[in-house]
Formats: sequence, C-alpha cells, structure tokens
Amino acid sequence: MTDPIYPARPRPGSIDAAEYDRRYAAAARDPEGYWREAAGCLDWARPFTTVKDTSFAEADFRIRWYGDGTVNLSANCLDRHLATRGDQVAIVWEGDEPGDGARVTYRELHALVCRFANVLKDHGVRKGDRVTLYLPMIVEAAVAMLACARIGAIHSVVFGGFSPDSLANRIQDCDSRLVVTADEGCRGGKRVPLKANVDKALAHCPSVETVIVVRRTGAEVPMTEGRDVPYDAAMAAAASDCAPEPVGAEDPLFILYTSGSTGKPKGVLHTTGGYGVWAATTFRDVFDWREGDVFWCTADVGWVTGHSYVVYGPLLNGATTVMFDGVPNYPDHGRFWETIARLGVTLFYTAPTAIRALMREGDSWVERHDRSSLRLLGSVGEPINPEAWDWYHRVVGERRCPIVDTWWQTETGGILIAPLPYATDLKPGSATRPLPGVLPQLVDAEGRVLEGATEGNLVIADSWPGQMRTVWNDHARFFQTYFSTYPGKYFTGDGCRRDADGYYWITGRVDDVINVSGHRMGTAEVESALVAHAKVAEAAVVGMPHEVKGQGIYAYVTLNAGEEPSDGLRGELRQWVRSEIGPIASPDAIQFAPALPKTRSGKIMRRILRKIAEGDTGNLGDVSTLADPAVVETLVRERVG
Ligand code: WTA
Repeated sequence: MTDPIYPARPRPGSIDAAEYDRRYAAAARDPEGYWREAAGCLDWARPFTTVKDTSFAEADFRIRWYGDGTVNLSANCLDRHLATRGDQVAIVWEGDEPGDGARVTYRELHALVCRFANVLKDHGVRKGDRVTLYLPMIVEAAVAMLACARIGAIHSVVFGGFSPDSLANRIQDCDSRLVVTADEGCRGGKRVPLKANVDKALAHCPSVETVIVVRRTGAEVPMTEGRDVPYDAAMAAAASDCAPEPVGAEDPLFILYTSGSTGKPKGVLHTTGGYGVWAATTFRDVFDWREGDVFWCTADVGWVTGHSYVVYGPLLNGATTVMFDGVPNYPDHGRFWETIARLGVTLFYTAPTAIRALMREGDSWVERHDRSSLRLLGSVGEPINPEAWDWYHRVVGERRCPIVDTWWQTETGGILIAPLPYATDLKPGSATRPLPGVLPQLVDAEGRVLEGATEGNLVIADSWPGQMRTVWNDHARFFQTYFSTYPGKYFTGDGCRRDADGYYWITGRVDDVINVSGHRMGTAEVESALVAHAKVAEAAVVGMPHEVKGQGIYAYVTLNAGEEPSDGLRGELRQWVRSEIGPIASPDAIQFAPALPKTRSGKIMRRILRKIAEGDTGNLGDVSTLADPAVVETLVRERVG
C-alpha cells in the first residue's frame, strides 16, 4: 500500500523544495557557517566568535553554541521591535469566556516587562536565581517569563494543573526564591485554586521568600504577611525602566520539568543563545510566518510548546501571538473555530488529542464558523493518526491549508522534524523530514545504524543549537539518560519508521514514558503515587491505546493483605493520584491484581502487562522465565475495560 501524498504547493517568497534541499545540504556540509548566518535572527549584545563547540563522546562531552556571545532574549522579544512595530499587537489574550480578552501591543508589553523585572529585583531576585511560575494562561505569565529573561533570572514554569506536591517537588529541586501565581485559574467554567495550592506546597519549601499573586478571578485568598505580595501593588510601586542585563549565550534561560522513564521529573535546562536561535528560526520557517499573521498555538505555557511557540518563537519574530486561557469544548465544541473566526487567526497549532476529541462531535461545529482566515494548520505532541489528519485537512482547513506535523521534545527546545509548508509533499501521519541542521538516524538495539527504508530507535547524530544543556543539578543523569544508550548519539526515546522517500514516521515511545493527551507522563511517577496509598502494596503502570487521548493509563494494583478490591476503592485510588500528581495522571483503568508477573530475579515483566492492557492476549510471547506463569492467566481473565 502506498501512502497518499499531498503535493506541496509553492508560495511566492516561501522556502520551496529546492531551497530546502540547498539549506539541508549546506547545514550538513558546514554547520559552523550555516549556524553563524542563522544566528543573525537575533540582535547580539556582544557578537560571538565561536559557533559550535560540541561533542557527544563521554571523554570530552560538551554542548556549547555561540559560547562567547551575549544576548538578552527579552530585549530581542521586545525592545528591538519598538521602533518598527511598537503599536502592533504582540499578545491577543483570549479568556475562558468567549470574547473576554485583551490586546497588548509591543510597547505595552515592553513596559509591563520592565516594571515586573524591577519587581523581581526589588524582591532580591538576581541573575541566575530561580523563579517558579504557577499561573493560568494570562498575559502576566508571558510578562513574568520575559522579566526573568531580562534580568538573567531562570524561570521554571509549572503547569497549573499540577498538584501542590508536584509543585513543591519542582520548587525544591531548583531552590526557587520567588513564586508567581494567581488567586485562581479559570478553565472550562471551573475555578482552579492556584494560590491555595501554592500555600500547601510552600509548607515544604523553605527557599521561597516571596509569592507574587496576580488577580485573575478576584477571589478572596489568604495572604501571608511578609511573604505574599499582590501583583498590582508591586507593579505600581516599581520603577518603569529596566535595562536588559547582558546574558551569556550559555547562561540558563529556563528550567522545565519533564517526565522520564525513571524517578522524579527532571529539570530540563535550556540556555539563551542557541535556544533563542532555534525558537526564532523554527517558528519563522515551519509556520512560514509573515507580517500580518495571527498565530495561535493552543498549548499552555506550562509545557515546552507554550515556551517555544506561544512566547519566545513568535515574539522574537515580532509576531502577533494568541494566548488562550480556555479549553476546546467550552462553552461548546465550536470554541476553537469560533475564536479563529473572531480573531482572524491565520496560523493554528494544536494537538492530535484535541483534534480527535472535536472530530467525534461532528463537522457541524466546525462548519458553522468562518475559517477563511486560516492559511496553515499544525500538529504537535504525539503521532497524529491519518483519520484525524484527514479530518483536520478536509473539514477544518477546507483542503486549502497545509498541515505541519511537528516532531520534537522538551529536550530539543523546538521542532526538529517537520515539513516546510510550501516545500514538502505531505503524507498524513508522517512528520516528514528533518529541518536543516538536524541529523536523525535509526539504530537497532545494538546501536547499528540502519539505512534506507527501515524501522528502529530514533537518535540524533550531532548537536543543534536548541538542544537542552543539562538536567538541573544532575549532569550525570543528563549524560546517562540521553548519551549512554548509543554512545556518541542523542537518544530520543522514540521509535520510528523511515520510508523509501526518507520520510520519518514516529511510532511512539520505546521507554517507560507514556503520552496521555499529548502530556508526557512517567509510568514510574504514577506507580510511586499509587504505592504511597495506605492500602496499596505494589503497582505497575503501562500505556494502553485510547481513542481520544492517544494513550490512556492502565494501572495494575496489588493491595495489602486484608484489603478488599472494590469499585469504591478504584475511585478512591483515582482521586488519590489526582491529588498526588494532578488530574492528567488519573488512571483510565485500574485492575486489581493478586500478583504481578515477575521474573525469578523479581523484575516485573512490563512487556506482558502492556499486551494485556492492549487486549492483545493471544500472543504474550515467552512467559517461561516467569517465576509463576499462573499469575498471567489470572491477569488475562480479570482484565478490565
Ligand atoms: C511525542 C512535546 C509523534 C514523542 C513537543 C516525543 C510526537 C514526545 C510528536 C515529547 C509528533 C511529540 N509526532 N510524536 N509530531 N511530537 N511527540 O517533551 O514521543 O512533551 O518524544 O514535547 O512527544 O513530548 P514533550
């Protein structure tokens, strides 16, 4: 069977197929020269003389780009645009209720950021200090990020859906001295008790001296004397001008916690120069941004997509970016399309899980709204199945809009594999080909490089500027996680197929990370939350196919002696995980298991658990190494769902 192909339709002034080939070859032949020129997308305070200084080998492991340059990304997002586009809208804020919104120009945003940078300084924040942001999708989130960047402080944004415990862990890990939050969030008509969550978290976070509280809903929230400061009052008291701090290209810009296959979430550290170049150039080229475009990425700033394509990528280019504080199905299933019509959105970027959820509700929710402003659609976060791709293309984009299926990771800083919309022929379900400067390879379990049409583990053979630099406080874990499996290469954790045309088809994670509605979740995290419950002896968590979420969470739970399985307890455990980690980690299925399948050395055989969860019980493979093969029969018999 051959895959359907949607030929690229060239657009005047856009990168075409020949130009893509030229750039790809140039970047492969001369990375130094290519990335020297590409860095011209930023205004450097002190020009760099070195470009690429990287090695993935253990003996001289290092990742440095533009190492002796200095550049301030706040100045690049704001100050340099004032002369040419001061009165252009930088951020269109769209609240939870349709039409409850605001428009902030570059000049206004610059003023807000300068003031808030002074607020941070007034509260003792200095270059290199960590600042945790636990906020809704409001303009103040972008203001706080850019204010940190302005003074060289490191922001750590924690998604507002995480629990007080998860927040506390992330604050402790990086010793933040200041937290910015809001009284409450407001999503899908429901309130989220952000400030109350911060209060709970801070009972275990002695490093935090100050909490700045933005007024979002106006709810009365308790304020702790000497620690909590209302945002409005602090802004009113602060000076209005603040020169950008000179920041080294390799000075940290932000930490963002993400799930891995083992242990607690790790603090992915991105630095300034290379990340800035990556966010700016990928935004410009993959979305083919032009003057006058209105760009809407529906991601939350609590995830990397929100960092690179709500805030940094668009603002570095002087674009107009939409910040959406709502959900796709509130007040109804037409919310995205109604908002696109009202705001005149031209470039729209969302996740397959949202597309699948809306597709189920029928075409009429889309068709009743005018989508003629749309020129391009994007997808991110998980593989998009061809049916969803087709619906997105045909119904949403009226067959007019190219779809950019963008593959990347928190670790990669920005998009690595994606079509260029007017250069690359599209195949539904494939992220197509690597961007210039990206060298993907497929390897087998032994690390042998596989050529041609094949399937294997996806690695990247050489560094690119937007790559993460370390795991905060744990450089050994950084090397161990990403560079030790296949020495000399960056291991993505993804499996992938490459077809005869050199197109890449991501098949999903090959490690113990699962992808639930485009949110990354470590099975180990959910397991440790479950075993923290008083009635649970042991737990094993795997992913299972889920029609809307992509993957769902399937938990096998062994209870302590004397505890009885019941539906009531199922509900209790689900609620428990919600409060331990957050609603996104709530198991979709819980199977009470008298015992788990283990090898004689006591290792849980997850391969078997995955198959049972998938309902693929006809072919469980070799179970002869199990300590007690009868365990499997019981699990198959009692499978839920
Ligand atoms: C998956 C999100 C297929 C992949 C930007 C990766 C994708 C993980 C795609 C990273 C895509 C992301 N097609 N799979 N277009 N985009 N993924 O760190 O498994 O939240 O490793 O970054 O999402 O998730 P993360």
